[in-house]
Amino acid sequence: MPLINRRLLSLLALAGLSLAGAAVGMANEPAASASATDGYDDQAPLSAVAQLGKKLFFDPSLSGSGQMSCATCHDPANHYAPANGLAVQLGGPHLDQPGIRAVPSLAYKMSTPSFSIGEESAADEAAEASPMIEASGVALANAPAAVTGPLTAQAVVKADAAAANLVPQGGMFWDGRVDSLEEQALQPMISPYEMANADAATVYAKLKESYGKEISALFGDNILNDQDMTISEIGFALARYQIEENSFHPYTSKYDYYLRGKAVLTDAEARGLKLFDDANKGNCASCHLDKVTGDGQMPNFTDFEFEALGAPRNPAIPANADAHYYDNGICGPLRNDTYSAQQQNCGLFKTPTLRNVATRHVFFHNGVYRTLEDVTRFYVKRDTNPEEIYPKDASGKVLKYDDLPAQYQANIDVIDAPMNRKPGDTPALSDTEIADIVAFLKTLTDGYDPAKDGIKAAK
Ligand code: HEC
Ligand code: HEC
Repeated sequence: MPLINRRLLSLLALAGLSLAGAAVGMANEPAASASATDGYDDQAPLSAVAQLGKKLFFDPSLSGSGQMSCATCHDPANHYAPANGLAVQLGGPHLDQPGIRAVPSLAYKMSTPSFSIGEESAADEAAEASPMIEASGVALANAPAAVTGPLTAQAVVKADAAAANLVPQGGMFWDGRVDSLEEQALQPMISPYEMANADAATVYAKLKESYGKEISALFGDNILNDQDMTISEIGFALARYQIEENSFHPYTSKYDYYLRGKAVLTDAEARGLKLFDDANKGNCASCHLDKVTGDGQMPNFTDFEFEALGAPRNPAIPANADAHYYDNGICGPLRNDTYSAQQQNCGLFKTPTLRNVATRHVFFHNGVYRTLEDVTRFYVKRDTNPEEIYPKDASGKVLKYDDLPAQYQANIDVIDAPMNRKPGDTPALSDTEIADIVAFLKTLTDGYDPAKDGIKAAK
């Protein structure tokens, strides 16, 4: 129950804030920035809470090292993902402690629903019914995602345990272990290989000292006497920043202009889009949704669902030097709750957005791939030519699914195309078709200028 209460509280706070904002004429509606037709270019002024969030986001003094802020890993100059090519970033008190997972971009996170286990594509429906739930205070009152907490999910699991197709969906991080941007913020601050404060009390002391005045001005004097409330409000401020600041969800890629009828795809890009959609070829769009939704919102290139794809182990992650160590996604090491104890969730990771994917340096939760060609080849050759994807042992045996303990390998998706083939089958995509899909993926990078770039492409 406490989780749901906290969730509701923060939603109510958000609703109250938006309404208060409207009253003083500061309401900005980032939801509009996702509309298929307009409103994607204007940045409304940030609310006072979001301005505080912005300061926090860039403040290295909130780290144990004094040198690392959220922006160090989530670099605004690279669509809020790391600018360097490391598989995992270095953090900690002396900036020498390697992380265990690739850093996701923070762009396009605000319509992520809470974590739940439900019928397949419920998340798609939720996203379609009320996209940008977090963004619009008014929509909150009847937002379906607001009541989709872990308890509801458990009830569903019990009532319907025999039914297949119950899939985990939503939540923050690769394993969905927290529900919202608000709740997420403390974790990097106390993670020993990220901002590495000793504990929440240390963060609280720093916040009181550096931001005490602003926090009491915005949230009332009593807040500062309560460690949990103070930390929860700064989570709220950081979330507000990520919601209100347009550069977290600009929808200015060539593909967005194409969907608005203001850009034309090249032949290769158009072929790539077709292969991306084709259920017998790439089938990518079945998980990385690419259509304008029923109520006119631009696609986020994820259905927010979790899948076990069986990506190869990445020896570049120092934790992997221990042969007994595995990153089992929902089953930990970082998640520890009812869901992490359920065997059918082991090895599952959240489907990431593909927006700005061509600007990422490493791909998948473990950063094992460095080019989009290699990622796409993985999907089509994992089953037809596993010897090209996985390492071999001393005897020459291919170690298929080498990054997941044997007892969880049954969770790996072998049903959805293109991962439903057998050794010896023809891969679903040829190398030229892979190149076309990659050409299409490159149209997902924000900052396209239809006037300038359109003319260039026509030449
Ligand atoms: C040392 C690098 C580093 C720093 C600093 C850092 N993060 Fe992250 N961030 C990560 C990694 C790695 C993940 C993925 C972790 C996981 O899935 O377990 C992540 C995930 C996230 C997510 C979830 C995104 C998603 O796709 O689900 C959010 C939101 C986020 N970080 C916000 C922040 C904020 C806010 C700060 C500052 C308070 C911050 N991060 C500081 C590395 C960092
Ligand atoms: C069954 C659902 C599903 C299908 C189909 C699918 N993906 Fe994915 N995609 C995922 C999941 C889940 C991940 C994350 C896996 C992980 O990290 O272990 C992912 C990750 C990716 C990434 C890495 C993104 C990043 O930020 O690291 C790329 C690129 C990608 N997919 C492209 C494609 C392409 C291209 C296709 C079609 C050929 C495709 N996907 C088909 C579910 C899917």
